[in-house]
Amino acid sequence: MIEGGARLSGTVRASGAKNSVLKLMAASIMSEGECRIGNAPDIADVRTMVEVLRHIGLEVGYSDGDLNIGPASEPNVEAPYHLVQRMRASVEVLGPLIARYGRARVAMPGGCNLGARQIDMHMRGLAQMGATMTVSHGFVEAEAGRLEGTHVYLDFASMGATENLMMAAVLARGATVIENAAKEPEIGDLAEFLSKMGARISGAGTSTIEIEGTDALSGASHDAVGDRIEAGTLLLAGAITRGEVTVEGIDPGFLDIVLDKMVEAGCGVERAGDGISVWVPAGIRGIELSTLPYPGFPTDLQPQMLALLATAEGTSFVTENIFENRFMVVDELNRLGADVKTRDHHAIVRGVRSLSGAPVTAADLRAGAALVLAGLVADGATEVYEIEHIDRGYERFEEKLSSLGAAIRRAPAGQ
Ligand code: EPU
Repeated sequence: MIEGGARLSGTVRASGAKNSVLKLMAASIMSEGECRIGNAPDIADVRTMVEVLRHIGLEVGYSDGDLNIGPASEPNVEAPYHLVQRMRASVEVLGPLIARYGRARVAMPGGCNLGARQIDMHMRGLAQMGATMTVSHGFVEAEAGRLEGTHVYLDFASMGATENLMMAAVLARGATVIENAAKEPEIGDLAEFLSKMGARISGAGTSTIEIEGTDALSGASHDAVGDRIEAGTLLLAGAITRGEVTVEGIDPGFLDIVLDKMVEAGCGVERAGDGISVWVPAGIRGIELSTLPYPGFPTDLQPQMLALLATAEGTSFVTENIFENRFMVVDELNRLGADVKTRDHHAIVRGVRSLSGAPVTAADLRAGAALVLAGLVADGATEVYEIEHIDRGYERFEEKLSSLGAAIRRAPAGQ
């Protein structure tokens, strides 16, 4: 429940990156010793991954942002449907299970709110490494002796496929090269963790990753990088309220293109050490924007940027290239008085003078965050429903925003 109108100001800290921690957790399946993952945000998706690992038989403790993960004594190499259905990223256990145990049974993720989202590249790469992959009764079943290093070319720089294959290759016999690999900072973070476990990886963060397989991995301790999407969301919250917000705990380099686009839209931006400050000296103006794999503009910040541009002077043209359904937020933004039209994967955003508060519903995690941002500047009260989507990926979102001066509170359960 948000009362719009407060200008945000102050400093807030980014949590650890959801999209890194989930993969670090999957990687720990391959360790023969104890792993510690620090800076792990207390969000629903991390809790779901804890359930996935426990289902496999790993010992998982979680307190104060630290995950302590011990190996499974009697592994059950399965990711069940009820967990994969709740969180697609559960499929990231596929590569580690095959590499470590030579077997895996992982529920096939169906479509999700963002679109079809297949895992064909994950499966093709694993098959190329020698695994027999079959799909039956809604499960991917894999069998392999020791995986063999190989040369994989990805048709699209998929984050999940790059990570699954990089993890599998670490325990394969011989060398693997992944070409057209995704370059997201979370992939560099995963490679760093795997290297601490004894893996030999070079090129993570570039489009060619080379892995020299090793026989076994030991335990390791690692703090996840900051969450660039959460940081970007909080900075956009500052900008939409025409306030002044500093986010700490984030490498500004992870957000280069986002900050460039914010400057183009009229924001002032300052990068300092592990912090970023954003303010709005005059006003926000319309811009053109296309989402692309990293280092392009992240699809995960597109809905929040759309909310900002809805309040700009002039017209913006936004193209979504990653997910077919990422404009689901548009109809809800329009309920708040925005003027956004979509055709195929393009949106035309005509800036309006003011938004007006209304009840709206979050269709997914980032759409939910975008609606909260819009509510921060809308006249009167905005209620955002189905905030369980937001809780999947933002740690204490409403607390962080209220610490910056937002009038936002969580409605008591059941209201
Ligand atoms: N794709 C395929 N086949 C594959 C794999 C991907 O066709 O085998 C397609 C997908 O259908 C999609 C595109 O490739 O259209 C991008 O998918 P990618 O594999 O890069 O995404 P992902 O690994 O499933 C991660 C993040 C997403 C983020 C995307 C893009 C995690 C857990 N999820 O998903 O995060 O949007 O990369 O950057 O890391 C979020 O946090 O809100 C979120 C959705």
